[in-house]
Amino acid sequence: MGKIFVDACFGKETPYTPVWMMRQAGRYLPEYMAVRAQAGDFLNLCHNPEMACEVSLQPVDIVGVDAAIMFSDILVIPDEMGMDLSFVKGEGPKFSDPIKDEADLNRLIGGEEAASKLTYVYETIELIKQKLAEDKALIGFTGAPWTLATYMIEGQGTKTYNVCKKMMYSNPELLHKILRKVTDVVKLYMEKQIQAGIDVVQIFDSWAAAIEPGKYDEFSWQYMVEIAEYLKEKYPHVPVIMFPKGIPAFLDKVYGNFDVFGVDWSTPMVFAKERLGDKYVLQGNMEPCRLYSKEATTKCVEAIQETMQGKRHIFNLGHGILPDVPVENAKHFINECHRVSGKK
Ligand code: CP3
Repeated sequence: MGKIFVDACFGKETPYTPVWMMRQAGRYLPEYMAVRAQAGDFLNLCHNPEMACEVSLQPVDIVGVDAAIMFSDILVIPDEMGMDLSFVKGEGPKFSDPIKDEADLNRLIGGEEAASKLTYVYETIELIKQKLAEDKALIGFTGAPWTLATYMIEGQGTKTYNVCKKMMYSNPELLHKILRKVTDVVKLYMEKQIQAGIDVVQIFDSWAAAIEPGKYDEFSWQYMVEIAEYLKEKYPHVPVIMFPKGIPAFLDKVYGNFDVFGVDWSTPMVFAKERLGDKYVLQGNMEPCRLYSKEATTKCVEAIQETMQGKRHIFNLGHGILPDVPVENAKHFINECHRVSGKK
């Protein structure tokens, strides 16, 4: 049996519109919390292929999404490049020794050596592929070099991005060197994910909106396109989804060889369709907080369907699901996407 999710990524007609949710394997599911408790902490969970496989499959079994996303985190890449990652409870990710200068960058492991250290990710993918139903797709992912670099330079999440923006305007050469090194690892990392069995690639540029529009191509998009085009050339059967969050002002300038453009919730779907709908399949884009209300969810799903008409579209949220969303509301979202698009 073919995978309707993969068909939809290539813009083929499908019996209904497939749906998944960004961050679908996570804390809103009590079953996830149970496995994480067993793992001890979040990074142990990422490093344990059996457990990571189990939580990847949970949203398929429990909420009925059409694709699984392998369980890991974008930050395992800099971790294996030699930056010491930890997750401090309630505070999110931390690197103890952020990159300040070229010497710090030069100390990091690059290329094949770094990509080869992520064996637990490839093992997780192999396990998921053994257990995932034939008709469901498995999504592999990476953070965009820019989004990864923000953590590598700031050492943690940030509201202002002042440390990396200081570098952007006062030492752009160093920022480009960081982005180059990360891009080279990511290309090989994604290639190994494909060889391990993923069906679809998504590149998350969660912090795209931190860059002024005139600089976005230079510091982020061109690197994402380089990764996408490297993969498309070698593995044309694997669709690539680009998700740059918060760049409506940049839509007219979007270019590159990839398949699906992930529309975030701040961009009206009609606006994205007018600008990009002929060139790319569109994914998205319900505001994730609508999940708190079933009524608000139904209204939005119907409005998106009205715009997209089940053509060249994949349903999703416009960013990740939050931990306090009731599971039954997440199920309601999936069911409504299937209902309005005619799933029997
Ligand atoms: O279901 C899935 O989408 C697969 C798993 C996944 C995780 N992180 C698991 C996770 C994916 C695709 C990611 C990507 C990720 N990680 C992004 C890009 C996607 C986005 O939402 O924009 C970013 C920016 C990160 C970095 C990161 N990881 C942060 C900022 C945090 C802490 C904040 C938070 O959401 O808790 C994490 C931890 C993390 N990654 C958790 C999960 C389930 C929570 C850890 C836990 O407490 O169990």
